[in-house]
Amino acid sequence: MTFPASHLAPTEPERNKEAASLIRQVGDDLNFRLRQLHEQLLEQVPDVDRIACALYEPSDDMLRTFVHSTRQGVAIKGYEFCLSESASLSGLAASRSVRILDEIADVVNAANPHSQWLLNEGYRSSFTVPLYERQEFIGFLFYDSLKPAAFSKKVQRSLEVYNTLISLTISNELNLVRSITTSAQVAREFASLRDFETGNHLERMAHYSRLIARELAPRYDLSDEYIEHLYLFAPLHDIGKIGIPDSILLKSGGLNPEERALMNTHVQKGIDVLERMIGEFGLNTLPDSQVMRNVVAGHHECLDGSGYPNGLKGVEIALEARIIAVADILDALTSHRPYKEPWSVKAAICELERLVERGKLDGDCVQALKCHLPEVNTIRDRFKDS
Ligand SMILES: [Fe+2]
Ligand SMILES: [Fe+2]
Repeated sequence: MTFPASHLAPTEPERNKEAASLIRQVGDDLNFRLRQLHEQLLEQVPDVDRIACALYEPSDDMLRTFVHSTRQGVAIKGYEFCLSESASLSGLAASRSVRILDEIADVVNAANPHSQWLLNEGYRSSFTVPLYERQEFIGFLFYDSLKPAAFSKKVQRSLEVYNTLISLTISNELNLVRSITTSAQVAREFASLRDFETGNHLERMAHYSRLIARELAPRYDLSDEYIEHLYLFAPLHDIGKIGIPDSILLKSGGLNPEERALMNTHVQKGIDVLERMIGEFGLNTLPDSQVMRNVVAGHHECLDGSGYPNGLKGVEIALEARIIAVADILDALTSHRPYKEPWSVKAAICELERLVERGKLDGDCVQALKCHLPEVNTIRDRFKDS
C-alpha cells in the first residue's frame, strides 16, 4: 500500500531544510530592514546596486561581513579580513573620511578575494563610509554600483541620510545585543561565579561556535548576522549557574545523584534569568532573541533524546544549541581541570567523533571543527588560561 507523500514523515534532509528556513526567518531581520532601506534609496539613487556592512572587532583586528542588500548576482558572505592589512581602509577608519572609487579595477588589488569578487560581479564604482558609535569605530558601510563613477557629490549628499539611518539601525541592534551580554557578565560577577567556566572558557567556546557556524553557513543557509549573534550569545549558555550553590558548583569530587539533579537545574534557571533580562530590556523585538533562548535552553540536549531538560531529539534541538554543545565540550576536553590534564585537540576531536557515533552530538558540527584544526589551535593559544 502506498501513501501520498504528504502523509510520510519528513526525511532528514527535508527536516534540515525546514530547520534552516526557520533559522533564516529568525536571523534575517536586519538584512530585511536593510533591503527595505535599499529599495527606498533606489527611488532616489537608482545606481546603487549593493549596500553592505562589515563589522569591526577590535580584539582580533578583523572586519567581518555582517548584513547586505544585493540587487543581483551572487552575494559575498562569511568573509573576514584583517583591517591593518588594508592601508586604505585603516586610513579611512582613523581619519573618519569616506572613499570614492570611480573605477574599482584601476585601484584595487585583484589578489584580494573581496576585490576579486567585486570585479567578477561586475561592480565598477564604490563609496565607502566608516561607521562610529560614541566615537568608536565599529565597521564600514559599502555602497557599490555596476556603473563607473556612480557616486558624484550629489549622490553622496543623497546618501548622507541613509548612512545615518543604516548606522543607527545597526548600532541600535548591536547595543541591544551588548546590553544583554554585558548584564549577563555583570550577573556572573555579582554571583561570584568563580568556577572554571568563567573567563577564557567563554571566549574560546564563543570563537569555536563561530568557527563551526561559518563552516556550516552555505549548507544551512546561515546569514552573517546569525553567525555574529551566535558568537555574542554563546557565553550566555551557562548563565543559570549563577543560581547554583557554590558547594555544588565548586565541588572537586563527583556529584551524587541529588547534587547532579540540582546542578542540571541550571538550564531552567538560565531560561528564567534570560526571560527576565529580555523582559526588562524590552528585547523581545531583538532579531535572534529566539537564538539566544535556544543557546541557553538546548545546550545539554543530545540528538538521541538522552539530554536534559526536555530530552529533545535530532532536529528538535535548534542548530545553535547543537553548535554550542560541540564547542562547549571541545573546550572542556582541551582545558585543564582539577581532575585531568588538557587533552590535545586531536584527541578531543576523536572523542567528539565517538559522541557523534553514539548519537549524542551533531556530526556536521564536529566535522566543521575538523576542517579548521589550525584555527582551533590558534583560538586555544590566543585565549590560554593563565
Ligand atoms: Fe551548561
Ligand atoms: Fe560551558
